Order: sequence, then structure tokens, then C-alpha cells
Amino acid sequence: MEINCGSLSSGKYDGQKVSVSGWCRYVRVHKDKAFIDLADRYGITQIIFENNLLEQARQLGREFVIRVDGKVRKRSKKDINPDMPTGKFEILAESLKVINKSKIPPFEIIEEKGAFLPDEELRFKYRYLDLRRREALNKIEFRDKVIKSIRKFFWDNDFLELETPLLIKDTYDASGSRTFIVPSRIHKGEFYGLPQSPQIYKQLSMISGLDKYFQIARVFRDEDPREDRQPEFTQLDLETSFKDEHYIQTLIESMVKRVFSEVLHKDVKTPFKHLDYKEAIKLYGNDKPDLRFDNKIVDITEEMLKTDYNIVKNIIKNGGKAIAINFEAKFGTKQSKIDKDFMSEMVEKAKTFGLGGLTWLFVEDKKLRSDPEKIAQSMSGQNSEIIKKLNSKDGDVIIICTDASESLLLAAVSKLRRIMGIRIGNFKEEYSFLWVDKFPVFERDEVTNKLVPVHNPFVMPTEDTIKYIDSKPEDMLGKRYDLVLNGIEVGGGSIRIHDPEIQRKILKIMGLADKEIEESLGFLIEALSYGAPIHGGIALGLDRFVATLAKEDDIREFILFPKNRKFESFIDGSPTPVSEKRLKEDYDLKIDRT
Ligand code: AMO
Repeated sequence: MEINCGSLSSGKYDGQKVSVSGWCRYVRVHKDKAFIDLADRYGITQIIFENNLLEQARQLGREFVIRVDGKVRKRSKKDINPDMPTGKFEILAESLKVINKSKIPPFEIIEEKGAFLPDEELRFKYRYLDLRRREALNKIEFRDKVIKSIRKFFWDNDFLELETPLLIKDTYDASGSRTFIVPSRIHKGEFYGLPQSPQIYKQLSMISGLDKYFQIARVFRDEDPREDRQPEFTQLDLETSFKDEHYIQTLIESMVKRVFSEVLHKDVKTPFKHLDYKEAIKLYGNDKPDLRFDNKIVDITEEMLKTDYNIVKNIIKNGGKAIAINFEAKFGTKQSKIDKDFMSEMVEKAKTFGLGGLTWLFVEDKKLRSDPEKIAQSMSGQNSEIIKKLNSKDGDVIIICTDASESLLLAAVSKLRRIMGIRIGNFKEEYSFLWVDKFPVFERDEVTNKLVPVHNPFVMPTEDTIKYIDSKPEDMLGKRYDLVLNGIEVGGGSIRIHDPEIQRKILKIMGLADKEIEESLGFLIEALSYGAPIHGGIALGLDRFVATLAKEDDIREFILFPKNRKFESFIDGSPTPVSEKRLKEDYDLKIDRT
């Protein structure tokens, strides 16, 4: 009987003749016996080789692929391994076939959780070996479970699983990123674009009357690398017709509830919290606050101006602001999760976020203290005002950040808030979901001074602000919502513009001439003019969603073969040059490499 390396976790095969294939994970050879821990996706099984098989077993090395026929038997009491699911049994080999040898792997494939890992460059270069590790495999299996659960939810709710095209027009889609382009051999000098999202085609599906669509869609964005970004990633994408924001949000909440129940075996509280975009910025400094903890930001510009702390005062005099956050940290006690060394790390982190530095203080005997003492001394005149404003108690730690650019300051403060909040870990809940809504439709680009969409140009303005479309378009709010989980933006969607004239106007406000509109999105505007229904949807960044559910920051661990931080393939080294000859012959292209 054919079994796998996890089959012996039950007693079902005791005494039976079985065949099993797998990789030799651990090989131990004694004088009269060899022990092999044989591994595959399902587990590890101990195989014993004796007598006439011993010599053959001695030739086996790590990661050789073998097939063994043998008999299952109970291990003697002293040999039972309680840490191994199959640890009560072993297979006494009766024949051995080496399917393939293996070179010595560049790092040891260790099954145990938390084992020391090689550096990530090496680990991802040999990702196919990395994935033989139980811990790496668990993450990929976790992703699979989440996707299966999502699919079942949408099938059960009568959604059509559709596939939108991957070779599309290079047109405007998501804001802030560019489209990867693909040259056509047949139409020399012409290009396809790879979708940044299925946005336009899912809207067209609604115009077709396919009123409930979903897709686990691979999408591509040629943007600047960041930690939580990949140039190709996966979205759970959906669109519905004749529904409003509330319907889509409730739908996602039910889906999340199902994933929690089926995959994490936990409940999640619904409906999720809501916060206006403006309020989120005011209270937390960004539009994706981690609400597992409170720690609001507090403007202490005026108080700081009254101190003798000149570094901060000078920045304020140059138009800057001082923003503080208070953390209950039990500073100075044994239970505290932060100390002076950690705060020095935070100062360095603040610099990487573009700030000149970071001032931190702690509260002792109801007074501000610092290390070195002179910072707190320079602020002593404002001691009680600051403590009162921040509602600080003994043991609390206060960070103060200052910068002349408000956007840089808020971005940096909110990142520091999350790092400190996670480190201190006073969580109100394990998973904190939040809808952020009432986003402006437009923002002004600081460099070009043009109005650019905050998300994409397809967001329908709200009923009460659409009246500003001609007079003050920057005052329009959009029917847009972002989903935030533990401080990570895991999704975003909107109700779309279904009126071709409003769509045209929005593109004009962005500064596009009639001809440009016709050339880039004329086909969408035309489609909207054939009876487009009210429609809207959302996309979850699946890689981020899965990683955040698993409480991990690095989305790459949940991607089968991810790209590195410079968006290069660890495995095949792409992107790589294409020969001049091929470029010329197939595409009539020439690259000046000088
Ligand atoms: P948006 O651009 O907000 O919306 O993208 C949806 C979600 O995708 C994730 N995401 C990423 N994940 C990994 N790497 C990236 N480079 C990356 N960029 C984005 C985020 C984000 O919330 N068409 C709209 C959706 C809609 O309106 O229906 C869209 O794509 O988690």
C-alpha cells in the first residue's frame, strides 16, 4: 500500500506492508542499523535499514530522493518520539530504490520551528529547498487555506469567478505606479500593458450584466520598491452591480468572518470600526492606523515653543510642528518591554524615516525625565503642561518628533507609533479591522500642482459633494473605502462612476485634453454610455491580508517565488537583457546601452 511520510500519525498501518517515497532529511548510520528520517509535504517518518540493506543505506546522503518498501511496526517504548506526529511508529525497510541523488544543499533543511536560518538571499535563491522546511511550507499551506475559504464563500454567494485579460492597453489605472509594458512582435512598435488591477475590465463586466464577479487576480505594478510591495502580487478582486458601499463592506465582513472561522478557528467582531480619512490623519497621523492600541498623536507645538529646547524650537520657527505620543511603558521596571537601547534604535529609525532625529522622555515622580538629563531640564518650564496634555503617568514614555514638512512628519510619526505600539504590546484586541472612508477624490501634487486622484479616477463622488465638481473639485469626497488590519492597508475599493459625462469631467480635472481622454480611456467612456449600472467593488491585497492574518510583516514568506527588495527574481535573476538581435528582429526596437 502506498502511504506518505505523514500517514503513520495514526495506528492504522501498524503491521502492514507499505511503500513510501520522500527526501532523506536526517541520516544516521550505526554499526548494524541505519536510521533515515524520510520527509515529504505530509510529515516525517523514521525508516530503519538493517542486514542486507545496510550497505545501500550507507550510501544515502541528505536530500536524496528514495522509495522504500517495508513493514510498519511500533517503536519500542524508549524509542517513541513524542515531538513527532508519527513518533510511535517506524518502517523496517525491505527494499530501497534511490530515485535521485542530491548535491549537498547550500544550507541545512531543518524541520524544527525557530531553527537558525541562512541569510535571506541564499534562502530565497534556493527557495525550492527552503520550501522543504516545515515552517516555510506551513505559510504556503496557510495561504492556500485562506484562498480556498475565500473561493468557497464567493461561490456560495452566487458570484461568478471570471478571468479578465492580462494583455491590455497601457492606460491610466492605479495612482502612483506605472504599468509594465510588453512589446508586440506582430504589431511592431506597439505595446500591451500588464494590468495594475482588473479595474477597468471588471467595470466592463458589470456593463455586461455579470452583476457579481470575483477573481483571485495576479496584477503588476512598476513602482518603487518598498517593504510590503512586490512588482507582481495577488488581489482578491470583486465587483457588484446595483449595490452601495454598505453592501460591499458587509460582504467583506462576512467573508472575513468565514475565513477566521475556517482557517484560524476564531471569531471576529463585525461590523468593523469606521473612521473618516480626515479623522484618521488628525488622531493617528496616517490613513491606516493600527488600532490594536490607542496612543493618539498630540500636537505640542505651542508648548515646545515655550521651552528652552532650541533644536526643536528652531524647526518650529521655520514653520514646523512638534507632534508627541505617549506610551504606557512601565519604563525603568523589569516588566518594561522598552529600555534605553531600544529608544536609541528608535532614534535611528526616525532618521531613516526622514526626520532629523527623535526626542524621547520618560515620566518619573510626575516629572519629565530624559537621558541625558539636559533635554528634560530644557523643557522643565512646560513639565506639567506637557504631562497634562498627554495625560502621562509615571513609567510612560513620550516621543516628540519635529519637522518642517507636515506630510513627512506625520508619515514618520505614524510609523514610529506602530513600531513602539507593537513592541509594548498593550493590545486591546488581537486583530483590529478598520474601514477608513470619506477620502477626498483629489489631492494636489506638490511638484506639478496638478490635481491627481487620491486613489484612481473611477471613484464616484458622494451625493453631497458632487456639486463641487466644477467649482472646487478638491472639496469632493469619494465613495471610497480602505480596509485596514492591524495597521496594514489590506484592501481598498469604491463605488464607481457609471455616468460617462462625470467620468469625462474627472479626467479633464486631472488635466487631460479631450484627445488624450479619447486615446486613453475613450473605450471605457463609450462602454459607460451603453447603460452602465450603478456598480462598485473592492480588492484585497491577498499577500498582505494572508501575512497579516498570520501576524507576519514580510509578505514574501507567503509568496511561492517572491522577488527581492530590488524587485529582481531570486531564482532566475530577471529582469535580464534581451539580445540586440531579438529586439531588432522581433520588435524592431533598439536600446542605446551607452
Ligand atoms: P489598490 O490600488 O488600493 O486598489 O490595491 C488593492 C490592495 O492591493 C494591495 N497592494 C499591494 N500588495 C503588494 N504589493 C504591492 N505593490 C501592492 N500594491 C497594492 C494593498 C491594496 O490595498 N482597483 C483598485 C481596487 C478597487 O477599487 O476595487 C485597486 O487596485 O493591500
